[in-house]
Amino acid sequence: MDGSCKILYENDLHKCVMFSFDDETHEDSFLSVNQYLVVDNGVGILLDPGSDVAFDELYDAVSEHIKISNIKYIFLSHQDPDVSGSIARWSISANAKFILSSLWARFMSHYGFMQTDRMILLNDKGATLKFGKSSLHFIPAHFLHSPGNFSLYDETSKILFSGDIGAAIVGAPNQYKIVDDFLKHKEYLQGFHERYMGSNKACKTWVNIVEKLDIDMIAPQHGFLFDGKNTALFLAWLKELKCGSDILGTL
Ligand SMILES: [Fe+2]
Ligand SMILES: [Fe+2]
Repeated sequence: MDGSCKILYENDLHKCVMFSFDDETHEDSFLSVNQYLVVDNGVGILLDPGSDVAFDELYDAVSEHIKISNIKYIFLSHQDPDVSGSIARWSISANAKFILSSLWARFMSHYGFMQTDRMILLNDKGATLKFGKSSLHFIPAHFLHSPGNFSLYDETSKILFSGDIGAAIVGAPNQYKIVDDFLKHKEYLQGFHERYMGSNKACKTWVNIVEKLDIDMIAPQHGFLFDGKNTALFLAWLKELKCGSDILGTL
């Protein structure tokens, strides 16, 4: 496994770090992932830690930025294996509580995790979490693509961690890259979003919420990040996208 890490935001108390992993020996079959760590006042939340195959490298990489015992929360945007597959290993290695949609609580037992008392379950409306001296907002993103799905907005860094929304399958090497030209990047977004996202109604509902936020960066779970004018271009594109049930007749 090949990994890289990039600090996306840092001030005296608050830090956001991105980790990216590739399996260089299985380039054609491995789905590259981005994971994120947010730290405020020495307390950490790990976002979408991924599957077993990335666990060892991610554990070591995260340990460079925070003591694992200081990770208070692990957020799972949805149930997929590339998001939640390592929940059992993290439950042994960290004392963190797991924040996820109530829809997926029982499904975690199939990843070998049954400690419901360590879950903080989000209802459909989402929640705000006081986090160190800051706040984190769990924003409903249902059917994009999972029926119980959340994005996370960090109000200090103004980064919107969007999970699979904005994800692009760009191939190896996977590392920190910012979208340069949205029109060119769109071709990497189009097929994934058309098929994996639920419907235009779901896209519009999410965009209507997040476009009210003060966003400096959108950080998805796969592929490149968006900043500057490309955040607005991406949101405008997504708002009009026909996908999922809209295109059923064309499959
Ligand atoms: Fe997913
Ligand atoms: Fe994903």
